Amino acid sequence: MTIAILSALAEEQHGLVDAMEGMQGQRHAGRDFWLGRLHGHEVVCALSGIGKVAAATTTAALIERFGVRAIVFTGVAGGIGQGVNVGDVVIARQFMQHDMDASPIFPRWEMPGYGCSTLACDGAMTDRLVQAAASAVQAGIVASHASARLHEGLIASGDQFVSSRQASDRLRTELQAASHHVLAVEMEGAAVAQACFDYGVPFAAMRTISDRADDSAHVDFSTFVRTVASRYAQLVVSDFLRQ
Ligand code: ADE
Repeated sequence: MTIAILSALAEEQHGLVDAMEGMQGQRHAGRDFWLGRLHGHEVVCALSGIGKVAAATTTAALIERFGVRAIVFTGVAGGIGQGVNVGDVVIARQFMQHDMDASPIFPRWEMPGYGCSTLACDGAMTDRLVQAAASAVQAGIVASHASARLHEGLIASGDQFVSSRQASDRLRTELQAASHHVLAVEMEGAAVAQACFDYGVPFAAMRTISDRADDSAHVDFSTFVRTVASRYAQLVVSDFLRQ
């Protein structure tokens, strides 16, 4: 069974591509796909691109063209839940699109045609990812984030880099009022979840918190992505594949 490892940015999966055996690159749909073996599994590493449409297209290509039968996403996110801080790891149990709004035709946040606002990740794969992340967190992942914590729950995606305290407070409050307790925001996961749901392909996702989606988010994000993001991916995804 071929497993895809997907990230939005090259920095988020750097070490993983380097560790692949018998790696061959293929270009398709304007994207690079890296095929090979990693810890005894057939894998395809790819960059989703940024945003929901790019991520959905990449997911469809991975499934249709490269025959992947499971997808793991690894990347960074902005923490908006209480106590979700830079350096923490969030494992998604569900995804939703925070910018979906077809009201008043459909309820706010509901995905037209799906009858729901959230999509669940695959339970068994997610449990494995939690185990892998828990060991990494216990081992103190990286010296600069020794007090990192692990969270599991809802991640919200939207075509928006959330970069002000006001915007993240508003998002959290509005979603909370509808009983959506969002831990983190990013720009791809819900699109991958929806494409995987359509194709019946199991999906799990890990996001490391690079910023608090506040007024310094753009600076914190850039520093984190440049300095530590790929170490998390390498440690946790490698452990996930070895289990
Ligand atoms: N990914 C990482 N940080 C983010 C933020 N603040 N908003 C959206 N996506 C992100």
